[in-house]
Amino acid sequence: MEGAEGAPVVTPVIETTGLTKAYPRVTALDHLDVTVGAGVTGLVGANGAGKSTLIKILLGLVPATSGSARVLGHDVATEGTAIRSLVGYMPEHDCLPSDVSASDLVVHLGQMSGLPYAAARERASDVLRHVGLAEERYRVMGGYSTGMKQRAKLAQALVHDPRLVLLDEPTNGLDPSSRDDMLSLVRKIGEEFGIAVLVTSHLLGELERVSDHVVVLDSGRLLRSSATSDFLHATGSLLVEVQGPHDADRLLGQALVDAGLTARPAEGSMIEVEVRDDHTADLVRDLTVDLGLGLVRMQERHHRIEDVFREGGAGSVQPV
Ligand SMILES: Nc1ncnc2c1ncn2[C@@H]1O[C@H](COP(=O)(O)OP(=O)(O)O)[C@@H](O)[C@H]1O
Ligand SMILES: [Mg+2]
Repeated sequence: MEGAEGAPVVTPVIETTGLTKAYPRVTALDHLDVTVGAGVTGLVGANGAGKSTLIKILLGLVPATSGSARVLGHDVATEGTAIRSLVGYMPEHDCLPSDVSASDLVVHLGQMSGLPYAAARERASDVLRHVGLAEERYRVMGGYSTGMKQRAKLAQALVHDPRLVLLDEPTNGLDPSSRDDMLSLVRKIGEEFGIAVLVTSHLLGELERVSDHVVVLDSGRLLRSSATSDFLHATGSLLVEVQGPHDADRLLGQALVDAGLTARPAEGSMIEVEVRDDHTADLVRDLTVDLGLGLVRMQERHHRIEDVFREGGAGSVQPV
């Protein structure tokens, strides 16, 4: 297909329009308009924000109350089967049979999705290796650690070679080092395997490292959707820390204001200075020297995903 100017029309991976899910007591999704493209997209929001509800609607497992959504061009309301053949799903909660091995489960699910037995075995062995389950894949999953269970859940989401995977809280219950391993795997799925990924977390800072794009949900509403680099871009200010008499920071702050710059106190006796032009940092350095103070450090201030929540006034959010 070609667009008006001859450019190819790219079908979004996920597109929702006015998507709403009302339960009797709560509106889990409230007129959500969001578009997700290729690459890794982080879906973040506090517990109860509506992340899992969105994923189940996208899979065609739960009907929306109103609005619509398309996944890889298919309507979730009428084409759930087609969607589930193209999409892998890693559910949030433990759903693994305890008396079956990861290998048997993944082979079985591969066959369920249409692969002949031999191909399913080969594919299962590949995906289990990719997620880092070695010999233990032949043991029953009842004895697995949380990290191993999460890997088995991830492997079954990949067995039918999906174009998109929906990973619901893949780092839940993991210790920091297993969490890092899982996040690296998520990145690898997006980058090396070229599979589009939508990954959720209630820990806000967690997905910055692995996501190309971040969607922030708050009480079923879209708080923000932007490239990760936009979250992390320099905000146009410098954080300055100086050494000297006890009111060194105040002295420098006054000198900066006298020089026509905008400066304000920041955390830990630091001063935040708005960048006016290319010479701002030099001016800060010169004024510090003029006052006989020592410059301890000067750095650009970066936004983090948590700041969006702070600015947006969203409550009950757990920063990492
Ligand atoms: N089956 C259900 N019946 C009633 N309420 C539900 C159901 N599933 C989810 N909810 C509610 O919808 C809201 C969003 O839940 P959920 O999508 O699980 O959020 P998240 O995954 O972001 O933690 C919550 O208030 C939750 O209690
Ligand atoms: Mg959830």
